[in-house]
Formats: sequence, structure tokens, C-alpha cells
Amino acid sequence: MAAAQLLVLFGSQTGTAQDVSERLGREARRRRLGCRVQGLDSYPVANLIHEPLVIFVCATTGQGDPPDNMKNFWRFIFRKNLPSTALCQMDFAVLGLGDSSYAKFNFVAKKLHRRLLQLGGSALLPVCLGDDQHELGPDAAVDPWLRDLWGKVLGLCPPPPGLAAIPPGVPLPSKFSLRFLHEVPSAGSEGQQVAHPDSREPPSELQPFLAPMISNQRVTGPSHFQDVRLIEFDISGSAISFAAGDVVLIQPSNSAAHVQQFCQALGLDPDQLFTLQPREPDALLPTRLPQPCSVRHLVSQYLDITSVPRRSFFELLACLSPHELEQEKLLEFSSAQGQEELFEYCNRPRRTIVEVLCDFPHTAAAIPPDYLLDLIPAIRPRAFSIASSMLQILVAVVQFQTRLKEPRRGLCSSWLASLDPGQGDPCSRGGGPVRVPLWVRPGSLAFPEMPDVPVIMVGPGTGVAPFRAAIQERVAQDRTRNVLFFGCRWRDQDFYWEAEWQELEKRGCLTLVPAFSREQVPTLPSALQEQKVYVQHRLRERGQLVWELLDRQGAHFYLAGNAKSMPADVSEALVSIFQEEGGLCSSDAAAYLARLQRTRRFQTETWA
Ligand code: 2AM
Repeated sequence: MAAAQLLVLFGSQTGTAQDVSERLGREARRRRLGCRVQGLDSYPVANLIHEPLVIFVCATTGQGDPPDNMKNFWRFIFRKNLPSTALCQMDFAVLGLGDSSYAKFNFVAKKLHRRLLQLGGSALLPVCLGDDQHELGPDAAVDPWLRDLWGKVLGLCPPPPGLAAIPPGVPLPSKFSLRFLHEVPSAGSEGQQVAHPDSREPPSELQPFLAPMISNQRVTGPSHFQDVRLIEFDISGSAISFAAGDVVLIQPSNSAAHVQQFCQALGLDPDQLFTLQPREPDALLPTRLPQPCSVRHLVSQYLDITSVPRRSFFELLACLSPHELEQEKLLEFSSAQGQEELFEYCNRPRRTIVEVLCDFPHTAAAIPPDYLLDLIPAIRPRAFSIASSMLQILVAVVQFQTRLKEPRRGLCSSWLASLDPGQGDPCSRGGGPVRVPLWVRPGSLAFPEMPDVPVIMVGPGTGVAPFRAAIQERVAQDRTRNVLFFGCRWRDQDFYWEAEWQELEKRGCLTLVPAFSREQVPTLPSALQEQKVYVQHRLRERGQLVWELLDRQGAHFYLAGNAKSMPADVSEALVSIFQEEGGLCSSDAAAYLARLQRTRRFQTETWA
């Protein structure tokens, strides 16, 4: 393989940009091109000036923000003092991944493309606008762009003479070799992490804290469609510290039933121990895996077997399949023409990797274990807003139906909901409490330092979680000017912490404005409200107060919750308040909101 000429850098929030980047890396290897694939957080950004050829793969998160792992890079690349020739040696291309149902579609990729041009870089291609909403699946815009890209890249750096490309049907060598140990597994050798209760270092992704779960309580009423849990962890002795607005990251595991199903399909013995060796010198071993590791540990804690497989999964599986009929189908799913069918089979019904493997039994049984880590992505940690000055989180258990018989379940929320602190840890051989691997990082909400600044918080549903922590923290510091707009369906089913809010109101520490979207009108007991009442309606009703606090008293405004349409609806309500109460014209009102955002007096934390 040639020395690395091509650099692929990704900014990824949920793993898609990383997956696409790895696909680029594989395609480069097939073409015998040297290629490094790196997250933007692990690349020393000052080295960019020496890079001749870089492909940036960048997701855009909910409100047009860069993913967490590219925030430092983002700050660096937009420094005002960078010379306009800084990147004049660089040929680049930007592949954006976004969702056209959001207002700021592929905002990060477009802005990065413009900035790289400003810094003297030469664009190989116009920016690619990948779209999750594309009717033919997320790869539909990406595939033709990649074809053009390879044309350009091969023109710039032709492969070494005499080395033919590795044809599509032949598998690339696996990244790791996996060697089974032929000895009797001993107790405790499964690579269970230890809790490190005395550690002085704050826990991190590399070294999470195994926090005992203290309680796990349903907080929605029995007739509510959604199971929402208030979960509390004991973090004593962990060196974890946090402030209101921070988030906790949780590393979930697969259920024992899924682990068993997977091992059965592949003919793996869960108790078997193995070691991993990288095949290429620059391949890094996954730091989360102990050595030696048991198959059970690998499958339950590392491989994301209930994620929806991507096209690259089918491509590799097709190469590995010994069964003619199955292989034919897998090849179809990996071809450009088969994308619509793949979407119908996999993406629309949210079919999981383990289910697909059960549909292709001869192929599954023949997968060489060396390829497990190439085939299946790693389980990613999930972020939750911290909901109190103790470590509590509010978790909506994700479950929905598709045309498949089994309901679809969110991995982390279902796993958390299944843990019973009263029962002890089913995985721990010596009993002991249920433990959850976690660590904390700053969220996107930061509350004012100045004691007399009022805050307005808008948090429908589980969006209220970070505001509970903020209100607790502020009240403890005698900061009593807190206004909370909370939205839920029914007062008696999902009005989280109602009694606590009322108590704070009585003490004069809180103004609470609830919005019930499905309550009956009291005067017409049998009729449902014709129109749902949402937080943005309540905001408009209280427009005078909102304007007074923001414009006269320098209040900070916070918004948290579902990223879909609520943030745009609330922003729209604010702009109309600025017009009605502040007498601004529509463009001045929009500029007023933009200024609040720029000066961090309007902050959001949203999630899908
Ligand atoms: P709904 O489910 O009755 O439509 C918490 O989920 C609350 O947020 C619920 O009352 C929900 O109402 C409401 N909600 C749904 N969409 C919203 C939006 N676009 N803006 C504000 N609130 C919304």
C-alpha cells in the first residue's frame, strides 16, 4: 500500500459521518491509495497547512451546529488571524451529511467549504449535500458525488504502477486478527471494568465510572403512552463534578437475549476468550476492549448489533458469503440499483443487524471472526441532560412499531429501563449493585455567573431536565428570578416535578407557566381542545413579561427538548414578541434574536 496521500477527517455526532469516512478509507485501500481516516478531535489541526489532499466529512446537528467532536476544530478554522493563504497547498472536498427537514440543512458543510476556499484551499468538487430525508435513502446524493471524487483523486495521485485495484467482490483484509485462546475461561476474565472508586481523575470515555444505580422510577402516569424514567446514580468517590447544563454520557450494553441470538447465528461460544492484533501498523486497537476479551463481552458491550446496518455492511457480507442465493441478494443490496430495495428492507422498518444476520443464516454462520469489527460498528455512548444537583436523568424509553412484528427499541433507554436497582447486577458474579458506565461533559447550556440576571427557560417534555438542575442550583444561591415554560400533555400524567415547582413558586423562587397540549377545556368537559396549547403559545401570551425581562433586565433565554419543530416554533414566537412588544419590524426582530444568540443570551440544547 502507498504512503498515506489522502486524509479523511470527520465531524460526527451519531456515527454516520464516521461510517462514511471509513467507507472512503476502504475505497482508497481498494484503489491502493494510502489513506488516513481520523476524527476531527484527534487530528492536530495546525498540521493542516502541510496536507495536500483532504476530504472533510461533516454532519450538521439539530440547530445548524457542528458535532461535538469538531467544536475545537471549528473554533480554530474560524480564527480571524488565519492568513488567506494558509491552505494554499491543499486540494479539498467537503461531504456534508444533513437532514433537509431541519431549517439549517447541511449548514456546517456549506460553511466549512466557504471557509476553506477563503483560506486558499482548492475545491475538487462542489460541496456534497447528503440528506437523511432523501426518498432513496441517505446515500442517494453521496454515491454520485463519490464517483466524481475518485475520478479527481486518481487524477491527482495515481495508484502505484503494477498494483491492480482490489475488485469489489474480494474482501479487503480485516483490520484486526482475532485469535481464540484455547484455555478454560476463568471467573472474572471477561474483562469487566472496575469501578475505580478512589480515582482522582475525572472519568472519561476511556475510563468510565461504573456508577451504582440508586433508583429507576417511572414518572409518567399509567395511561400515558410513553414510559419516562427518573434514574439516579451514586457517584460518590468518583471525582465527577458538574454544573447545571452539563450532560452525562452513558455507555449502554446489548440485552442478554440479543447477545445470545447473535452468538447462535454466528456459531460463537460466548465464553470463549480471544486477543486482538492490528494488521496494519497505524490501526488502533479499540481502547474499550480488554485483552484478553470474551466473546460475550465483545458482543454485549462493544458491537452495535441492534443498529440498522448500513450499505457497507452488505458489501462486506456479500464478499464473505459462501451461499450463492444469499450472496446474490447481498450483492443486490450493496449495488447502486439495489438502494431502493435495501431502504425498504432495512431502513424503513428499522431492521437490525442481528435480524439481518438471522435472515442470511448461511452467511452469518460463515463470518470469519476476524471481520467482526470491520462489519459491525461500535456502540456509541448516549448523552442525557443532568436533571439535578445529584446525578439524576430523565429518560424517555424509546419504543415504536414498524411493519416488523417486534417493536423497535432504543438501545440505551431500553437497557436503562430494564435495570432494577433492587435486584442487583445480573452480570456481576459476586452480586453487588447494578452499575452503569458513565462520565460527564459540559453541555451546550451555561447559566449566567452574575447573580441578578434573570433566566427564562423553555423545556417541554424531557426538555425540562436541565432546567431542574439549573433551578435547584440557582435557588441554592438565592437567585430567585427564574421563569419556566413547561409543556406536557396532561397535568396528571406527565407533569414532571409538579409539587416541587409549586413549592418553589410559593417561596417566590419561580414563575411557572405550564402548557397542556391535550387537556380538556374545563367548560366543555366532553370536548377536546380544538387547538393544542404548546409552550410557544404560552410564550406569546406572556409576551410582555418576556420582552421586559429580555430587553430591560438583560435576561438569558434557554431552550431544551425535541429538535424537530419546537425550536423553530419557539424562535418564531420570540420574533413575533419582539415585533409586538418591542415595536420592531420583522427584520429588526430577527436581528434581535440573532444578536441574543451571538452573545450567548439565547442558548439551546436539543435532541432527536
Ligand atoms: P403533543 O404530544 O400533544 O403534540 C412534551 O412532549 C410536550 O411537547 C407535549 O405536550 C407535546 O404535545 C408538545 N409538543 C409537540 N410538538 C411541539 C412543538 N412543535 N412545539 C412545542 N411543543 C410541542
